[in-house]
Amino acid sequence: MKKILVTGGLGYIGSHTVVALQQKGYEVYILDDLSNAQYFILENIQKITGILPYFTKLDLCNMPELQYFFSQNNDFEAVIHFAAKKSVGESVQKPILYYQNNLNSLCNILLCLEQFKIKNFIFSSSCTVYGQPDELPVTENTPLKPAFSPYGNTKQIGEEIIFDFQKNYADFNAVILRYFNPVGAHDSALIGELPNGVPNNLMPFITQTAIGKREKLCVFGDNYPTADGTCIRDYIHVVDLADAHLLSTERLFEGKNNEKIEIFNLGTGKGSSVWEVIKSFEKVNNIKVNVEIAPRRDGDVTAVFADCTKANEILGWKAKKTLDDMTQSAWKWEKKLRIRN
Ligand code: UFG
Repeated sequence: MKKILVTGGLGYIGSHTVVALQQKGYEVYILDDLSNAQYFILENIQKITGILPYFTKLDLCNMPELQYFFSQNNDFEAVIHFAAKKSVGESVQKPILYYQNNLNSLCNILLCLEQFKIKNFIFSSSCTVYGQPDELPVTENTPLKPAFSPYGNTKQIGEEIIFDFQKNYADFNAVILRYFNPVGAHDSALIGELPNGVPNNLMPFITQTAIGKREKLCVFGDNYPTADGTCIRDYIHVVDLADAHLLSTERLFEGKNNEKIEIFNLGTGKGSSVWEVIKSFEKVNNIKVNVEIAPRRDGDVTAVFADCTKANEILGWKAKKTLDDMTQSAWKWEKKLRIRN
């Protein structure tokens, strides 16, 4: 049974990927510092798959501890690296924290891969690297724009670090996955998004407003040059995203990669406006959300959505779930979470 290390494996996308890997028969080890994840997710992964993943609480910026971990567990066939700070707004307030955390942890992991001769690496990147593109939809060849935030910059620099690293480690293969807007939760409602404090992102804000935890949802701007005036994003179900990680890892195992480093966009290829997300949520869950129009939020681009042809043709991956699946599963998870708390 192949062993795979998942950093940030108790986080939102990480936990769904752990489930997908276990269900495919892989032996999964998780590293997570629990700074933005909770321990019960580990138990819930076991409830879904029947297998408790190996778990070590560890901050990847702590190189001696990380090296010790690898010295004890050095036969991983791949590392999937999710662990990172991810709040755009917080990164503007605390840029050094973001550079220090996201880049040190990446460098430390890469050094360990080389030291312990691990060849396969999957990296979480983001559509944020494209900024506001000149043309839509965005392909992997769309030129990158200067990052809008320190968070976005850590993803751009992270990708560059991986390319530079590969030049000196010939056996190394990587897949860089650029996520669009991950939303939704596992069908079981045992794992899902757990925002820290007040959510920044649209979907958890909708669900927390619907459940009464927040008084109202502010729609940030209804005067954008789009059909209904609200911003357009490419929302992608987290379970579909998890599948893409599984396929990427297996592609490396089978040596099918055309290049040492491959990049894939992961979205549905379809843009949805903020209003469309709210309407879908209200329709499938039969519940009203208290909405207020608010000024535009700084840094929001008008529209961004993916061209996922490359992931489809090369990876054999295509998003299967609809916007209604996303809003339905997000609500099921929110309700279950409230019962828990
Ligand atoms: N929005 C609201 N009200 C809210 C929250 C969001 O109207 O309370 C709107 C935003 O203005 C935007 C849309 O909903 O138009 C989506 O916003 P999110 O914050 O959910 O997502 P973003 O597109 O801003 O951010 C996401 C990821 C980031 C990533 C970025 C790249 O969360 O990690 O995409 O574009 F960097």
